[in-house]
Amino acid sequence: MTHQHAKALTETVQALMAPGKGILALDESNATCAARFAAVGVPSTPETRRQYRELLMTAPGAEHHISGAILYDETLRQATADRIPFPTLLQARGQVPGIKVDTGAKELANAPGEKVTEGLDGLRERLAEYHALGARFAKWRAVIRIGAGLPSQLCCEANAHAMARYAALCQEAGIVPIFEPEVLIDGDHDIDRCETVTEHNLRIVFRELQVHRVLPEGAILKTSMVISGSGATRRAGVQEVAERTVATLLRCVPADLGGVVFLSGGQGNVESTRHLDAMQRLAVGRTPWPMTFSFARALQQPALAIWGADRRCVAEAQQAFAFRARMNALAASGEYRE
Ligand code: 13P
Repeated sequence: MTHQHAKALTETVQALMAPGKGILALDESNATCAARFAAVGVPSTPETRRQYRELLMTAPGAEHHISGAILYDETLRQATADRIPFPTLLQARGQVPGIKVDTGAKELANAPGEKVTEGLDGLRERLAEYHALGARFAKWRAVIRIGAGLPSQLCCEANAHAMARYAALCQEAGIVPIFEPEVLIDGDHDIDRCETVTEHNLRIVFRELQVHRVLPEGAILKTSMVISGSGATRRAGVQEVAERTVATLLRCVPADLGGVVFLSGGQGNVESTRHLDAMQRLAVGRTPWPMTFSFARALQQPALAIWGADRRCVAEAQQAFAFRARMNALAASGEYRE
């Protein structure tokens, strides 16, 4: 990789990890979007999806708190009602356009109950097209499920291998890879088990990235937090989640990585914000990489509920989204107060 090429990647990383800002995950597949819309009674069509995404991407004030947005293939090709292509709109608001490039998690052969993320076939060509459309970063999500005897080594290795190949192809195309090995919150496991699994899996992920010669400073980890299972009888508190997550990351994440961002993964809106804020306070002077949010549900939920109840309430929904963006931006600086 030439110095110029590496520099372009690190500049994108710096833009995404700008202090006091975070990334909006707006890359729900059509199937996921249909499920979220159905929950609030909105039919899912290309036009309703376009309207909803335009509402979020044009929300007044949110541009001060959002450094970039991850789009789905359909959205990257859509435009505002005034015919401004969404990537152009984001750039004009000082935000980096991004794209989800995996094609989903499918059943992994010989690993009952586990999944491997697909999407490598034709990826080089797709990345070239996405770059031409304005995307400067991409996302790939793998899911690691905790259960009796799970995750298997096979599942962790298969996902890490695919993720490293994705990351290398992204960097070749001048696109910053955000690699997302999500340890799912589903289950009744305790926080100890989540910590063990997260650490084990992250070590495998970073080993594979190194094997595939991925430039650390030109890549971003998107991780779940170290947290009790959603069905656990005793769930760890905010401070414990923050301490264990930061400690686990310090053990596994190389110092030269471009940044760490968090998914919300089914946590409540305020819960996610509290966790981010507590981690940020702990991290001051201790973590070599910047940390911020890359939430989907925890940023969007209140806005989607308002818009779903009455689709004329665009301004109200935008205010709700801009508010969550601002609260998370405060948390990203360790300055959130309730
Ligand atoms: P959540 O914040 O809703 O977990 O979504 C983040 C994401 O991008 C999942 O891939």
